[in-house]
Amino acid sequence: MLILGIESSCDDTGVAFYDSGRGLLGHRVHTQSDIHADYGGVVPELASRDHVRRLLPLIRDLSQACGVGLSDLDGIAYTQGPGLAGALLVGAATAVGLSRALEIPVMGVHHLEGHLLSPLLSDPAPGFPFIALLVSGGHTQLMEVAGVGCYTLLGETVDDAAGEAFDKTAQLLGLGYPGGAALAALAQDGDPERFPLPRPMLDSPDLNFSFSGLKTAVRLLIRQRGEADRPDIAAAFQEAVAEVLAAKASRAWRETGHRRFVVAGGVGANHRLRERLSHAADREGVQVYYPPPQFCTDNGAMIALAGALRLERQKADAAATIGGSFTVRPRWPLEELR
Ligand code: KG4
Ligand code: ZN
Repeated sequence: MLILGIESSCDDTGVAFYDSGRGLLGHRVHTQSDIHADYGGVVPELASRDHVRRLLPLIRDLSQACGVGLSDLDGIAYTQGPGLAGALLVGAATAVGLSRALEIPVMGVHHLEGHLLSPLLSDPAPGFPFIALLVSGGHTQLMEVAGVGCYTLLGETVDDAAGEAFDKTAQLLGLGYPGGAALAALAQDGDPERFPLPRPMLDSPDLNFSFSGLKTAVRLLIRQRGEADRPDIAAAFQEAVAEVLAAKASRAWRETGHRRFVVAGGVGANHRLRERLSHAADREGVQVYYPPPQFCTDNGAMIALAGALRLERQKADAAATIGGSFTVRPRWPLEELR
């Protein structure tokens, strides 16, 4: 089954061809960071308009590069939510329009399910069940993944997402938006122990997180310190986030007994976080799977993969949807999926 995947939930336009037999044939991502940088965050209307401009040329380009024609497709998957309504509508309208024209099934995919299943794009891929840590700009969640569509929320952030905390702290350090990767680069030259920062909820008896206090502590520190201290502040912040995430992941392994662990979402690209998670996992005999960095951030490949798995399942149940009316779901709890 050859599927075109379309991702347009936020500020990245992603497309991919995934074949159930041959795996990923190719993918393209166009990121809009430059457009939103001046505003310090994503401007929804600008995001939608850029998706309109980029989506079809990206599909055409990928199609040529992979030698795949639209008539070769067996189905189309698009991100139906959660995300920005206008941005989602661009992907949805394109997918449903193509489905109608080509008379092939179309499937709306949950963006976070895409992230959760993205490790299946790596070799070796984890088997089910596994624990997943989803750490992106909008989410920080520990999930139990028993199979496709079987997700149980174990814990999540009570305020800012980890990526959001990285971005806000990066902004305080004058690193622009989105600043997670730039903060990590600055932290490389820093001493993580010079400035002790709080470890929010490290010892709470649950699997929840909190990051907004950390950002406030950094703000105070920046006020008291000078330019030369920025690398040490960045390193201290990164260390605090990585320590808390690794500690809660360990707690999740101990509480559930699962021995496979997957890291997904943009913050999963962070090297220090990976070091701490791998260290904790080695100690406890847990195997960790990281999607390749280009599949940690938003991309079309994870949507094509999730769509292929769902379309295959649906084919067995009932006739799949072709064209027709559609809605997007800007808010969509992952646990509603079956
Ligand atoms: O999953 P993603 O591409 O988008 C969604 O939020 O859905 O994640 C983007 C987030 C941003 O907050 C970005 O700053 C962060 O991931 N990020 C990083 C790194 N690379 C991206 N945070 C820390 N270290 C990195 N190397
Ligand atoms: Zn994402």
